[in-house]
Amino acid sequence: MMFKNNLFGVLPDGREARLFNIITPKGLEVSITNFGGIITSIKAPDRQGVSEEITAGFPALEGYLKDHPYFGVIAGRFANRIAKGRFVIDGKTYKLQVNNRPNHLHGGNKGFHTRLWDYEVSENPGSISVHLRYLSPHLEEGYPGNLMARVTYTIKEENELEIEFEAETDATTHVNLTNHAYFNLGGFQKDIFDHQLMLDANHYLELDETQIPTGKMLSCENTFYDYRPIPEIEKSLRQLRAPMDHCFVLNHGHSLKSPAAILFHPSSGRMLSLFCTQPGIQVYTANFLDGRMRGHQGIDYQKHHAICLETQHFPDSPNHSGFPSTLLKPGEKYKHTSRFAFEAK
Ligand code: GLA
Repeated sequence: MMFKNNLFGVLPDGREARLFNIITPKGLEVSITNFGGIITSIKAPDRQGVSEEITAGFPALEGYLKDHPYFGVIAGRFANRIAKGRFVIDGKTYKLQVNNRPNHLHGGNKGFHTRLWDYEVSENPGSISVHLRYLSPHLEEGYPGNLMARVTYTIKEENELEIEFEAETDATTHVNLTNHAYFNLGGFQKDIFDHQLMLDANHYLELDETQIPTGKMLSCENTFYDYRPIPEIEKSLRQLRAPMDHCFVLNHGHSLKSPAAILFHPSSGRMLSLFCTQPGIQVYTANFLDGRMRGHQGIDYQKHHAICLETQHFPDSPNHSGFPSTLLKPGEKYKHTSRFAFEAK
């Protein structure tokens, strides 16, 4: 395994952001910065062994200092939407920033994606880990409790990227962390509809007109959102056929044994299998990209040219007692794992 730790850029306040670059013997190359805990780049070989960039991102820190659509970031303290930017804990109302009218999105404008995280690197047989740590002070972006968040990226020689999300608090709060990488396994040459998908989800959450769950779970059967595994076919995949910005309710619950999602690009052969321990995955087909974000190789990212598979608790959980709880109390440990396995078929 090859590892580099370079200067990525200097923040306006003079602090340095690092860029960690890890290459596996099988040719997976992952770059991560401690600014925002961002995956800036993933290059993966196709079935001929040709590597291409498969995530949206910027080659320099400057791109991430401006407003951008959360390319590769750690979204937190609460990934996804909280209705009207408010929730109640023990009778007390907490007001968050309304940065996605009329709701709160991805932790606010100064969410975890804008913070410089402390880092440490550890090299183990067959893997390298980048350990990131950020202490979010009480009432930062409106959330109660001093929250210690830890995100560990581990790149394994079998071409896997594992992300472990952890947090602890000193006052009861809500937390929901995810990574917001945008994938195009065809190297961003075409839109995402030449990909195939499997989602181990029989249901998705119904949304209101402001993209907040109504509380109802709808069946995927006979809809555009039906990517359920086909029994007896091991890696059963269906053609991506409609834009999505929906939270899918995973069938298996809390297990890393079978994939929650598989994304496949037939012409390059690149395949991404995603394992996770969260109850849901927000599938977002880059509906709000519009060609105005110039990233790697001078590509202007277009609408539907990427897909995000955001492992997480359900959106607006703090306001839905029927959803699995996102409450974290002092003395409890928040912990979940997502594993992205890359291969070429
Ligand atoms: C999530 C949301 C989308 C959008 C993107 C960021 O995936 O569900 O609606 O806000 O983040 O642009």
